[in-house]
Amino acid sequence: MTTAKRWTLEDIPWDQFDRSEVNADLLKIAKAASLVEYNASDYGAYLDNVFQGDANFQDAARTWVDEEIQHGRALGEWAKLADPDFDFDFAIKRFRDNFRIDVDAAASIRGSRAGELIARCMVETGTSSYYSALAEAADEPVLKAICLKIAADELRHYKLFYTHLKGYLALENMGLFGRLLIALGRTSETEDDELACAYYAANAERSASYDRLRYSREYLSRAYGYYQHHHMERVVAMVFKACGLRPQTLTFRVSQNLVWWFFANRTRHLKKLAA
Ligand SMILES: [Fe+2]
Ligand SMILES: [Fe+2]
Repeated sequence: MTTAKRWTLEDIPWDQFDRSEVNADLLKIAKAASLVEYNASDYGAYLDNVFQGDANFQDAARTWVDEEIQHGRALGEWAKLADPDFDFDFAIKRFRDNFRIDVDAAASIRGSRAGELIARCMVETGTSSYYSALAEAADEPVLKAICLKIAADELRHYKLFYTHLKGYLALENMGLFGRLLIALGRTSETEDDELACAYYAANAERSASYDRLRYSREYLSRAYGYYQHHHMERVVAMVFKACGLRPQTLTFRVSQNLVWWFFANRTRHLKKLAA
């Protein structure tokens, strides 16, 4: 359960910052990630609407929002340390001007509350594996520490949404096929507008206008490169769990290998396109 903030910005070892270990590509994607995380209040408002009447979930979602915003603040502070010219206020405004979610939706865009929670589990699956991969890739000690703390939070968020998912699955009649469809649909949205737009807002020249395809490739060709086989193994395990599929089966092992094969090819292709 997400009941309290487990850490604050004061727990980050800022005095260990080592400029010589800052990696330019990691800096670019950390800036983009800071905007997406900081923008979590929009998702909080949306979830608050969708889960009207479930005060228990609404309370948990408010704490979740606070924690996601803190992720954005930690990454933003680190980015400013690594690049004193990084103007977070300008970047977040540019991101919000170019990317909006429908916070007023009265019902889940996934068709049901269980569907919404499966989609949230997919997002936390993606973020927990992503920050684990970034923590392993980062040589700069403060960024590594921040990514480790965030990765642990994201895994806790997955468990939070999964716990509520089980309650709603008992109420709604959603079979394996429906769960898989939402899970795969939400996973494919990783390549959608939000991350590309955040990458643009955080990194493009002030005079540059938004070109979704260009910034999507620039972002993904960098971000995907940090994943290793064991990160993808965990992604598949978490997706299986959220969909109610059993792990440690032949289907599970085949899926892990297929997903890694597909992902490695996609990464190579994106790197070629962005070169
Ligand atoms: Fe986060
Ligand atoms: Fe999260």
